[in-house]
Amino acid sequence: MKAPKYSIIPKPQRYDTVDASFTVTSETQVLCVPEFVEAGKFLTDYLKTKADASDGAIKFNKDASVPKEGYTLRIDENGVVITASDCAGAFYGAVTLKIMLMQSKKESGKATLLGADIYDYPRFSYRGGMIDESRHFFGAETIKQTLDNMALLKLNKFHWHLSDDQGFRIESEKYPLLNFVGSKRKYEHLQGKDLPLSKICKHEEEENEYFHYYTKNEIREIVEYAKKMHIDIIPEIDLPGHTSCMIAAYPELVCGGEGCEVVTENGVFKNVLCPGKEHTYEFVENLLSEVVELFPYKYFHIGGDEAQLGHKVWKNDCPDCQKAIEDNNIKTAAELQSVFMNRISDFLKSKGKTCIAWNDGITDIANDNFVCHYWILRNPLWVKKESKKRSFILSPSTHFYFDMSYSCMPLKKTYKFNEAKFGITDDSSVLGVEFEAWSEWITDKETLEFSIYPRMFALAEVAWTKEKYKNFKDFYKRLDFFKLYMKSKNINYSRLEKKKFGIKNVSCYHLGVKGNEYKYNETLKG
Ligand code: ACM
Ligand code: ZN
Repeated sequence: MKAPKYSIIPKPQRYDTVDASFTVTSETQVLCVPEFVEAGKFLTDYLKTKADASDGAIKFNKDASVPKEGYTLRIDENGVVITASDCAGAFYGAVTLKIMLMQSKKESGKATLLGADIYDYPRFSYRGGMIDESRHFFGAETIKQTLDNMALLKLNKFHWHLSDDQGFRIESEKYPLLNFVGSKRKYEHLQGKDLPLSKICKHEEEENEYFHYYTKNEIREIVEYAKKMHIDIIPEIDLPGHTSCMIAAYPELVCGGEGCEVVTENGVFKNVLCPGKEHTYEFVENLLSEVVELFPYKYFHIGGDEAQLGHKVWKNDCPDCQKAIEDNNIKTAAELQSVFMNRISDFLKSKGKTCIAWNDGITDIANDNFVCHYWILRNPLWVKKESKKRSFILSPSTHFYFDMSYSCMPLKKTYKFNEAKFGITDDSSVLGVEFEAWSEWITDKETLEFSIYPRMFALAEVAWTKEKYKNFKDFYKRLDFFKLYMKSKNINYSRLEKKKFGIKNVSCYHLGVKGNEYKYNETLKG
Protein backbone atom coordinates (compact mmCIF):
# COMPACT_ATOMS: atom_id res chain seq x y z
CA MET A 1 0.00 0.00 0.00
CA LYS A 2 1.24 3.47 -0.87
CA ALA A 3 2.07 5.74 2.04
CA PRO A 4 -0.49 8.51 2.49
CA LYS A 5 0.27 12.06 1.47
CA TYR A 6 -0.01 15.12 3.63
CA SER A 7 -2.61 17.73 2.74
CA ILE A 8 -0.76 20.62 1.21
CA ILE A 9 -2.35 23.73 -0.26
CA PRO A 10 -1.35 24.96 -2.78
CA LYS A 11 -0.77 21.54 -4.26
CA PRO A 12 2.89 20.93 -5.14
CA GLN A 13 3.65 20.44 -8.81
CA ARG A 14 5.07 16.99 -8.00
CA TYR A 15 4.72 15.04 -4.79
CA ASP A 16 5.74 11.37 -4.56
CA THR A 17 5.70 9.31 -1.42
CA VAL A 18 8.82 7.50 -0.22
CA ASP A 19 8.61 4.27 1.68
CA ALA A 20 10.40 5.55 4.77
CA SER A 21 9.90 7.77 7.76
CA PHE A 22 11.91 10.13 9.87
CA THR A 23 11.36 11.07 13.48
CA VAL A 24 11.82 14.64 14.60
CA THR A 25 12.54 15.29 18.25
CA SER A 26 13.32 18.36 20.27
CA GLU A 27 16.99 17.46 19.67
CA THR A 28 16.67 17.53 15.89
CA GLN A 29 18.99 20.10 14.40
CA VAL A 30 18.33 22.37 11.46
CA LEU A 31 21.39 23.00 9.31
CA CYS A 32 21.34 25.78 6.75
CA VAL A 33 23.73 27.25 4.23
CA PRO A 34 24.17 30.83 5.51
CA GLU A 35 21.81 32.33 2.92
CA PHE A 36 18.94 30.16 4.09
CA VAL A 37 19.25 30.64 7.83
CA GLU A 38 16.15 32.86 7.84
CA ALA A 39 14.12 30.10 6.19
CA GLY A 40 15.47 27.64 8.76
CA LYS A 41 14.38 29.96 11.55
CA PHE A 42 10.82 29.80 10.30
CA LEU A 43 11.00 26.11 11.16
CA THR A 44 12.99 26.36 14.32
CA ASP A 45 10.37 28.66 15.80
CA TYR A 46 8.12 25.69 15.45
CA LEU A 47 10.60 22.97 16.33
CA LYS A 48 12.26 24.96 19.08
CA THR A 49 15.72 23.90 17.99
CA LYS A 50 18.66 26.03 16.92
CA ALA A 51 19.42 27.13 13.38
CA ASP A 52 23.18 27.23 13.90
CA ALA A 53 23.89 23.74 15.15
CA SER A 54 27.00 21.91 14.03
CA ASP A 55 25.31 18.84 12.67
CA GLY A 56 21.75 17.97 12.02
CA ALA A 57 19.05 16.11 10.28
CA ILE A 58 17.03 18.84 8.57
CA LYS A 59 19.20 20.44 5.94
CA PHE A 60 18.77 23.48 3.72
CA ASN A 61 21.06 23.37 0.69
CA LYS A 62 21.53 25.65 -2.25
CA ASP A 63 21.12 24.34 -5.79
CA ALA A 64 21.08 26.82 -8.66
CA SER A 65 19.13 24.45 -10.88
CA VAL A 66 15.93 24.71 -8.80
CA PRO A 67 13.48 27.19 -10.42
CA LYS A 68 12.97 30.67 -8.95
CA GLU A 69 10.94 30.52 -5.71
CA GLY A 70 10.89 26.73 -6.04
CA TYR A 71 12.25 24.02 -3.79
CA THR A 72 12.81 20.31 -3.51
CA LEU A 73 11.99 18.52 -0.29
CA ARG A 74 13.01 14.97 0.49
CA ILE A 75 12.11 13.09 3.61
CA ASP A 76 13.57 9.62 4.10
CA GLU A 77 15.16 7.58 6.88
CA ASN A 78 18.27 9.81 6.76
CA GLY A 79 16.43 13.01 7.48
CA VAL A 80 15.02 15.95 5.58
CA VAL A 81 16.75 17.83 2.79
CA ILE A 82 15.36 21.02 1.29
CA THR A 83 17.08 22.59 -1.69
CA ALA A 84 16.39 25.91 -3.36
CA SER A 85 18.14 28.41 -5.58
CA ASP A 86 16.90 31.48 -3.73
CA CYS A 87 15.72 32.51 -0.27
CA ALA A 88 12.04 32.57 -1.24
CA GLY A 89 12.28 28.96 -2.43
CA ALA A 90 14.01 27.89 0.80
CA PHE A 91 11.25 29.64 2.73
CA TYR A 92 8.52 27.84 0.77
CA GLY A 93 10.29 24.55 1.41
CA ALA A 94 10.18 25.40 5.11
CA VAL A 95 6.49 26.29 4.84
CA THR A 96 5.67 22.94 3.25
CA LEU A 97 7.68 21.07 5.88
CA LYS A 98 5.96 23.00 8.66
CA ILE A 99 2.55 22.04 7.25
CA MET A 100 3.72 18.40 7.17
CA LEU A 101 4.96 18.61 10.75
CA MET A 102 1.61 20.01 11.86
CA GLN A 103 -0.06 16.94 10.36
CA SER A 104 2.50 14.39 11.51
CA LYS A 105 1.80 11.81 14.16
CA LYS A 106 3.06 12.97 17.54
CA GLU A 107 3.93 10.86 20.51
CA SER A 108 5.97 11.60 23.65
CA GLY A 109 7.40 14.79 22.17
CA LYS A 110 8.35 13.11 18.89
CA ALA A 111 6.88 13.73 15.47
CA THR A 112 7.11 11.08 12.77
CA LEU A 113 7.30 12.40 9.25
CA LEU A 114 6.29 10.12 6.40
CA GLY A 115 8.69 9.81 3.47
CA ALA A 116 8.19 12.30 0.66
CA ASP A 117 9.86 13.55 -2.47
CA ILE A 118 8.60 16.94 -3.65
CA TYR A 119 9.59 19.14 -6.54
CA ASP A 120 7.72 22.39 -6.46
CA TYR A 121 7.71 25.89 -7.90
CA PRO A 122 5.04 28.52 -8.59
CA ARG A 123 2.98 28.90 -11.70
CA PHE A 124 2.79 32.70 -11.34
CA SER A 125 5.32 35.12 -9.87
CA TYR A 126 2.56 37.45 -8.59
CA ARG A 127 0.32 35.74 -6.01
CA GLY A 128 -1.60 38.43 -4.24
CA GLY A 129 -4.32 39.64 -1.95
CA MET A 130 -5.75 43.09 -1.37
CA ILE A 131 -7.36 44.53 1.73
CA ASP A 132 -9.23 47.83 1.58
CA GLU A 133 -8.64 49.76 4.79
CA SER A 134 -10.22 52.99 3.61
CA ARG A 135 -13.84 51.91 3.91
CA HIS A 136 -13.07 50.07 7.12
CA PHE A 137 -9.88 49.98 9.10
CA PHE A 138 -8.76 46.67 10.59
CA GLY A 139 -5.44 47.61 12.14
CA ALA A 140 -1.94 46.14 12.34
CA GLU A 141 -2.73 42.94 14.25
CA THR A 142 -5.36 41.81 11.75
CA ILE A 143 -3.10 42.68 8.84
CA LYS A 144 -0.25 40.69 10.37
CA GLN A 145 -2.46 37.66 10.95
CA THR A 146 -3.62 37.86 7.35
CA LEU A 147 0.01 38.05 6.23
CA ASP A 148 0.81 34.93 8.30
CA ASN A 149 -1.91 33.02 6.50
CA MET A 150 -0.89 34.38 3.13
CA ALA A 151 2.65 33.14 3.76
CA LEU A 152 1.35 29.70 4.71
CA LEU A 153 -0.28 29.62 1.27
CA LYS A 154 2.84 30.90 -0.51
CA LEU A 155 1.18 34.16 -1.50
CA ASN A 156 3.79 36.87 -2.00
CA LYS A 157 2.11 40.21 -2.75
CA PHE A 158 0.01 42.18 -0.31
CA HIS A 159 -1.80 45.01 -2.06
CA TRP A 160 -2.77 47.57 0.54
CA HIS A 161 -5.64 49.86 -0.47
CA LEU A 162 -4.82 52.84 1.70
CA SER A 163 -6.77 55.67 0.13
CA ASP A 164 -10.32 55.97 -1.14
CA ASP A 165 -13.27 58.35 -0.87
CA GLN A 166 -14.05 57.22 2.67
CA GLY A 167 -10.67 57.79 4.29
CA PHE A 168 -6.93 58.32 3.88
CA ARG A 169 -5.06 55.76 5.96
CA ILE A 170 -1.36 56.60 5.82
CA GLU A 171 0.53 59.35 7.57
CA SER A 172 1.68 62.28 5.47
CA GLU A 173 4.15 64.73 6.93
CA LYS A 174 4.00 67.03 3.93
CA TYR A 175 0.21 67.19 3.88
CA PRO A 176 -0.96 66.72 7.48
CA LEU A 177 -4.56 67.59 6.67
CA LEU A 178 -4.72 64.33 4.76
CA ASN A 179 -4.77 62.83 8.25
CA PHE A 180 -6.45 65.45 10.39
CA VAL A 181 -9.25 65.84 7.88
CA GLY A 182 -8.87 63.03 5.34
CA SER A 183 -8.49 60.12 7.79
CA LYS A 184 -11.70 61.05 9.63
CA ARG A 185 -15.32 60.67 8.79
CA LYS A 186 -18.50 61.32 10.70
CA TYR A 187 -19.73 57.75 10.90
CA GLU A 188 -18.16 54.33 10.95
CA HIS A 189 -20.70 52.53 8.80
CA LEU A 190 -21.26 53.44 5.20
CA GLN A 191 -24.69 53.86 3.73
CA GLY A 192 -26.00 54.20 0.21
CA LYS A 193 -26.97 52.26 -2.84
CA ASP A 194 -27.12 48.50 -2.39
CA LEU A 195 -26.32 48.63 1.28
CA PRO A 196 -28.63 47.04 3.80
CA LEU A 197 -26.86 49.04 6.49
CA SER A 198 -29.47 51.76 6.63
CA LYS A 199 -31.77 49.03 7.97
CA ILE A 200 -29.22 47.57 10.34
CA CYS A 201 -27.26 50.57 11.50
CA LYS A 202 -28.52 54.12 11.11
CA HIS A 203 -26.08 56.99 11.04
CA GLU A 204 -28.11 58.94 13.55
CA GLU A 205 -27.51 56.10 16.00
CA GLU A 206 -23.74 56.35 15.61
CA GLU A 207 -21.98 58.58 18.05
CA ASN A 208 -18.29 58.34 17.37
CA GLU A 209 -16.31 59.87 14.63
CA TYR A 210 -14.24 57.30 12.70
CA PHE A 211 -10.58 58.32 12.67
CA HIS A 212 -7.82 55.94 11.66
CA TYR A 213 -4.52 55.95 9.86
CA TYR A 214 -1.18 54.17 10.05
CA THR A 215 1.84 56.15 11.15
CA LYS A 216 4.97 55.76 9.05
CA ASN A 217 6.56 53.73 11.83
CA GLU A 218 3.63 51.36 11.91
CA ILE A 219 3.87 50.96 8.14
CA ARG A 220 7.61 50.26 8.37
CA GLU A 221 7.01 47.61 11.00
CA ILE A 222 4.40 45.83 8.88
CA VAL A 223 6.61 46.03 5.78
CA GLU A 224 9.45 44.43 7.78
CA TYR A 225 7.12 41.78 9.16
CA ALA A 226 5.93 40.86 5.67
CA LYS A 227 9.43 40.88 4.24
CA LYS A 228 10.52 38.08 6.55
CA MET A 229 7.82 35.95 4.95
CA HIS A 230 8.76 36.99 1.40
CA ILE A 231 5.68 39.13 0.96
CA ASP A 232 6.13 42.43 -0.88
CA ILE A 233 3.70 45.15 0.10
CA ILE A 234 2.26 47.21 -2.73
CA PRO A 235 0.48 50.36 -1.58
CA GLU A 236 -2.39 51.81 -3.53
CA ILE A 237 -3.10 55.51 -3.61
CA ASP A 238 -6.18 55.56 -5.81
CA LEU A 239 -6.03 58.39 -8.38
CA PRO A 240 -7.54 60.51 -9.91
CA GLY A 241 -10.95 59.18 -8.79
CA HIS A 242 -11.94 57.82 -5.37
CA THR A 243 -10.23 60.87 -3.89
CA SER A 244 -12.93 62.58 -1.79
CA CYS A 245 -10.75 62.19 1.31
CA MET A 246 -7.93 64.17 -0.32
CA ILE A 247 -10.28 66.83 -1.67
CA ALA A 248 -11.93 67.21 1.75
CA ALA A 249 -8.47 68.02 3.11
CA TYR A 250 -7.21 70.10 0.17
CA PRO A 251 -10.18 71.48 -1.82
CA GLU A 252 -7.92 73.17 -4.38
CA LEU A 253 -7.28 69.71 -5.86
CA VAL A 254 -10.74 69.45 -7.45
CA CYS A 255 -11.99 71.28 -10.54
CA GLY A 256 -13.45 74.58 -9.40
CA GLY A 257 -11.96 74.22 -5.89
CA GLU A 258 -15.22 73.61 -4.12
CA GLY A 259 -14.42 70.90 -1.59
CA CYS A 260 -16.45 68.08 -0.12
CA GLU A 261 -16.63 66.03 3.05
CA VAL A 262 -15.02 62.66 3.59
CA VAL A 263 -17.70 60.40 2.22
CA THR A 264 -19.87 58.27 4.51
CA GLU A 265 -21.67 56.40 1.74
CA ASN A 266 -20.51 53.86 -0.75
CA GLY A 267 -20.53 54.42 -4.48
CA VAL A 268 -18.79 56.39 -7.21
CA PHE A 269 -18.41 60.15 -6.75
CA LYS A 270 -17.62 63.18 -8.81
CA ASN A 271 -14.94 64.39 -6.41
CA VAL A 272 -12.02 63.67 -8.68
CA LEU A 273 -8.64 65.40 -8.90
CA CYS A 274 -8.32 68.12 -11.56
CA PRO A 275 -5.69 67.11 -14.13
CA GLY A 276 -5.86 70.56 -15.72
CA LYS A 277 -4.00 72.25 -12.85
CA GLU A 278 -0.25 72.09 -12.44
CA HIS A 279 -0.73 72.23 -8.69
CA THR A 280 -2.40 68.79 -8.75
CA TYR A 281 0.76 67.21 -10.19
CA GLU A 282 2.95 68.94 -7.66
CA PHE A 283 0.72 67.68 -4.83
CA VAL A 284 0.53 64.11 -6.09
CA GLU A 285 4.26 63.89 -6.77
CA ASN A 286 5.14 65.24 -3.33
CA LEU A 287 2.74 62.83 -1.69
CA LEU A 288 3.90 59.81 -3.66
CA SER A 289 7.54 60.67 -2.90
CA GLU A 290 6.68 60.23 0.76
CA VAL A 291 4.81 56.97 0.22
CA VAL A 292 7.42 55.44 -2.09
CA GLU A 293 10.03 55.76 0.66
CA LEU A 294 8.12 53.29 2.81
CA PHE A 295 7.71 50.47 0.31
CA PRO A 296 10.99 49.16 -1.12
CA TYR A 297 9.42 47.14 -3.94
CA LYS A 298 9.03 47.26 -7.68
CA TYR A 299 5.29 47.82 -7.97
CA PHE A 300 3.17 50.79 -6.99
CA HIS A 301 -0.61 50.88 -7.52
CA ILE A 302 -2.14 54.19 -8.61
CA GLY A 303 -5.73 53.03 -9.00
CA GLY A 304 -7.29 54.71 -12.02
CA ASP A 305 -10.73 53.11 -11.61
CA GLU A 306 -14.20 54.61 -11.71
CA ALA A 307 -13.40 58.26 -12.43
CA GLN A 308 -16.29 58.58 -14.88
CA LEU A 309 -18.32 61.16 -12.96
CA GLY A 310 -15.25 63.36 -12.72
CA HIS A 311 -14.72 62.96 -16.46
CA LYS A 312 -18.02 64.75 -17.05
CA VAL A 313 -16.88 67.68 -14.92
CA TRP A 314 -13.50 67.81 -16.70
CA LYS A 315 -15.11 67.88 -20.12
CA ASN A 316 -18.11 70.11 -19.46
CA ASP A 317 -17.35 72.41 -16.55
CA CYS A 318 -13.63 72.91 -15.98
CA PRO A 319 -11.78 75.46 -18.14
CA ASP A 320 -8.43 74.10 -16.92
CA CYS A 321 -9.30 70.58 -18.00
CA GLN A 322 -10.76 71.79 -21.29
CA LYS A 323 -7.51 73.61 -22.00
CA ALA A 324 -5.51 70.48 -21.10
CA ILE A 325 -7.58 68.44 -23.55
CA GLU A 326 -6.83 70.99 -26.27
CA ASP A 327 -3.15 71.36 -25.42
CA ASN A 328 -2.61 67.61 -25.47
CA ASN A 329 -4.43 67.27 -28.76
CA ILE A 330 -6.79 64.64 -27.40
CA LYS A 331 -10.53 64.33 -27.61
CA THR A 332 -11.89 62.60 -24.56
CA ALA A 333 -11.77 62.99 -20.80
CA ALA A 334 -10.74 59.32 -20.58
CA GLU A 335 -7.65 60.22 -22.58
CA LEU A 336 -7.05 63.17 -20.28
CA GLN A 337 -7.00 60.64 -17.45
CA SER A 338 -4.28 58.79 -19.33
CA VAL A 339 -2.31 62.02 -19.78
CA PHE A 340 -2.50 62.46 -16.01
CA MET A 341 -1.66 58.85 -15.18
CA ASN A 342 1.15 58.69 -17.74
CA ARG A 343 2.77 61.69 -16.12
CA ILE A 344 2.46 60.20 -12.65
CA SER A 345 3.76 56.89 -13.91
CA ASP A 346 6.78 58.63 -15.53
CA PHE A 347 7.42 60.25 -12.18
CA LEU A 348 7.22 56.91 -10.39
CA LYS A 349 9.42 55.31 -13.02
CA SER A 350 12.06 57.89 -12.14
CA LYS A 351 11.81 56.45 -8.61
CA GLY A 352 12.32 52.93 -9.97
CA LYS A 353 8.67 51.87 -9.83
CA THR A 354 6.42 50.03 -12.24
CA CYS A 355 2.81 51.22 -11.95
CA ILE A 356 -0.25 49.07 -11.62
CA ALA A 357 -3.63 50.48 -12.69
CA TRP A 358 -7.15 49.06 -12.74
CA ASN A 359 -8.20 48.10 -16.25
CA ASP A 360 -10.95 50.71 -16.64
CA GLY A 361 -8.27 53.37 -16.21
CA ILE A 362 -6.20 52.11 -19.11
CA THR A 363 -6.82 53.67 -22.54
CA ASP A 364 -5.05 53.24 -25.86
CA ILE A 365 -2.63 56.03 -24.96
CA ALA A 366 -1.58 54.56 -21.59
CA ASN A 367 2.20 54.22 -21.57
CA ASP A 368 4.26 51.03 -21.21
CA ASN A 369 5.00 51.49 -17.55
CA PHE A 370 1.57 50.13 -16.56
CA VAL A 371 0.61 46.66 -15.53
CA CYS A 372 -3.09 46.16 -16.18
CA HIS A 373 -5.04 45.08 -13.12
CA TYR A 374 -8.05 43.37 -14.62
CA TRP A 375 -11.23 43.54 -12.53
CA ILE A 376 -14.15 44.76 -14.60
CA LEU A 377 -15.01 42.41 -17.41
CA ARG A 378 -14.21 43.65 -20.87
CA ASN A 379 -14.48 42.24 -24.33
CA PRO A 380 -11.99 39.34 -24.61
CA LEU A 381 -10.72 40.89 -27.84
CA TRP A 382 -9.68 44.01 -25.92
CA VAL A 383 -7.93 41.81 -23.36
CA LYS A 384 -6.16 39.87 -26.06
CA LYS A 385 -4.95 43.04 -27.76
CA GLU A 386 -3.90 44.72 -24.52
CA SER A 387 -2.11 41.63 -23.23
CA LYS A 388 0.26 41.88 -26.17
CA LYS A 389 1.32 45.31 -24.90
CA ARG A 390 1.53 44.85 -21.15
CA SER A 391 1.41 42.36 -18.29
CA PHE A 392 -1.80 41.56 -16.45
CA ILE A 393 -2.76 40.88 -12.87
CA LEU A 394 -6.07 39.06 -12.91
CA SER A 395 -8.74 39.86 -10.32
CA PRO A 396 -12.00 39.50 -12.24
CA SER A 397 -14.85 40.56 -9.98
CA THR A 398 -16.69 37.34 -10.89
CA HIS A 399 -14.05 35.10 -9.26
CA PHE A 400 -11.75 37.01 -6.96
CA TYR A 401 -13.87 39.73 -5.30
CA PHE A 402 -14.06 38.16 -1.88
CA ASP A 403 -16.45 40.77 -0.49
CA MET A 404 -19.15 39.12 -2.55
CA SER A 405 -21.49 36.63 -0.97
CA TYR A 406 -20.84 32.91 -1.17
CA SER A 407 -24.18 32.49 -2.96
CA CYS A 408 -22.83 34.62 -5.71
CA MET A 409 -19.27 33.33 -5.62
CA PRO A 410 -19.00 29.87 -4.12
CA LEU A 411 -15.56 28.48 -3.35
CA LYS A 412 -15.64 26.26 -6.42
CA LYS A 413 -16.12 29.24 -8.70
CA THR A 414 -12.94 30.87 -7.39
CA TYR A 415 -11.10 27.57 -7.68
CA LYS A 416 -12.22 26.93 -11.24
CA PHE A 417 -10.93 30.25 -12.51
CA ASN A 418 -9.36 29.93 -15.94
CA GLU A 419 -7.89 32.96 -17.64
CA ALA A 420 -8.66 31.68 -21.14
CA LYS A 421 -12.32 32.59 -20.54
CA PHE A 422 -11.34 36.23 -20.24
CA GLY A 423 -9.43 36.40 -23.50
CA ILE A 424 -5.95 35.50 -22.27
CA THR A 425 -4.58 32.82 -24.53
CA ASP A 426 -0.95 33.36 -23.74
CA ASP A 427 0.08 32.82 -20.12
CA SER A 428 3.26 34.78 -20.55
CA SER A 429 1.39 38.09 -20.25
CA VAL A 430 -0.06 37.08 -16.88
CA LEU A 431 1.97 38.16 -13.87
CA GLY A 432 -0.50 36.46 -11.62
CA VAL A 433 -3.76 36.63 -9.71
CA GLU A 434 -5.02 38.53 -6.68
CA PHE A 435 -8.06 38.47 -4.42
CA GLU A 436 -9.80 41.68 -3.43
CA ALA A 437 -11.40 42.30 -0.04
CA TRP A 438 -13.27 45.56 -0.47
CA SER A 439 -14.58 46.78 2.83
CA GLU A 440 -17.77 48.74 2.27
CA TRP A 441 -19.56 45.85 3.94
CA ILE A 442 -16.68 44.11 5.62
CA THR A 443 -16.71 46.11 8.80
CA ASP A 444 -14.55 44.15 11.21
CA LYS A 445 -12.05 41.33 11.60
CA GLU A 446 -14.73 38.68 11.94
CA THR A 447 -16.43 39.57 8.67
CA LEU A 448 -13.08 39.94 6.95
CA GLU A 449 -12.15 36.41 7.98
CA PHE A 450 -15.52 35.13 6.86
CA SER A 451 -15.06 36.72 3.46
CA ILE A 452 -11.52 35.64 2.71
CA TYR A 453 -11.39 32.15 4.25
CA PRO A 454 -11.47 29.60 2.83
CA ARG A 455 -11.53 31.38 -0.53
CA MET A 456 -7.91 32.43 -0.08
CA PHE A 457 -6.95 28.74 -0.23
CA ALA A 458 -8.60 28.38 -3.64
CA LEU A 459 -6.93 31.53 -4.92
CA ALA A 460 -3.55 30.27 -3.69
CA GLU A 461 -3.91 27.05 -5.64
CA VAL A 462 -4.89 29.00 -8.77
CA ALA A 463 -1.80 31.16 -8.27
CA TRP A 464 0.68 28.40 -7.57
CA THR A 465 -0.39 25.09 -9.08
CA LYS A 466 -0.40 24.35 -12.78
CA GLU A 467 -3.87 24.13 -14.26
CA LYS A 468 -3.37 20.47 -15.26
CA TYR A 469 -2.74 19.41 -11.64
CA LYS A 470 -5.78 21.16 -10.18
CA ASN A 471 -8.84 19.22 -9.09
CA PHE A 472 -11.59 20.69 -6.94
CA LYS A 473 -12.61 17.46 -5.21
CA ASP A 474 -9.05 16.73 -4.23
CA PHE A 475 -8.53 20.34 -3.11
CA TYR A 476 -11.66 20.18 -1.00
CA LYS A 477 -10.40 17.09 0.78
CA ARG A 478 -7.04 18.72 1.49
CA LEU A 479 -8.89 21.73 2.88
CA ASP A 480 -10.11 19.62 5.83
CA PHE A 481 -6.77 19.92 7.59
CA PHE A 482 -6.70 23.69 7.09
CA LYS A 483 -10.21 24.00 8.52
CA LEU A 484 -8.92 22.39 11.70
CA TYR A 485 -5.98 24.75 11.60
CA MET A 486 -8.28 27.79 11.25
CA LYS A 487 -10.48 26.51 14.05
CA SER A 488 -7.43 26.21 16.29
CA LYS A 489 -6.58 29.83 15.50
CA ASN A 490 -10.14 30.93 16.16
CA ILE A 491 -10.57 32.20 12.62
CA ASN A 492 -14.17 32.88 11.63
CA TYR A 493 -13.89 31.12 8.27
CA SER A 494 -17.03 30.47 6.26
CA ARG A 495 -18.56 27.05 6.80
CA LEU A 496 -20.98 27.80 3.99
CA GLU A 497 -18.51 27.88 1.21
CA LYS A 498 -20.33 25.41 -1.00
CA LYS A 499 -23.91 26.36 -0.27
CA LYS A 500 -26.07 28.36 -2.59
CA PHE A 501 -28.20 30.36 -0.27
CA GLY A 502 -29.68 33.79 -0.56
CA ILE A 503 -30.73 36.36 1.94
CA LYS A 504 -33.86 38.23 1.06
CA ASN A 505 -33.51 41.97 0.51
CA VAL A 506 -29.75 41.83 0.54
CA SER A 507 -27.84 42.37 -2.66
CA CYS A 508 -26.39 39.22 -4.06
CA TYR A 509 -23.09 40.93 -4.33
CA HIS A 510 -22.01 41.42 -0.79
CA LEU A 511 -21.82 39.92 2.61
CA GLY A 512 -23.80 41.16 5.56
CA VAL A 513 -22.64 43.50 8.24
CA LYS A 514 -20.50 41.82 10.88
CA GLY A 515 -21.19 38.56 9.07
CA ASN A 516 -24.60 38.54 10.78
CA GLU A 517 -26.44 36.91 7.96
CA TYR A 518 -23.76 34.44 7.17
CA LYS A 519 -21.99 34.06 10.43
CA TYR A 520 -21.32 30.49 11.34
CA ASN A 521 -23.83 28.84 13.59
CA GLU A 522 -24.70 25.23 14.26
CA THR A 523 -27.98 25.16 12.36
CA LEU A 524 -26.39 26.40 9.16
CA LYS A 525 -23.46 24.04 9.32
CA GLY A 526 -22.77 22.77 5.83
C1 ACM B 1 -12.82 48.49 -8.33
O1 ACM B 1 -13.47 47.52 -7.91
N1 ACM B 1 -13.38 49.70 -8.38
C2 ACM B 1 -11.44 48.35 -8.75
ZN1 ZN C 1 -10.34 70.39 -13.92
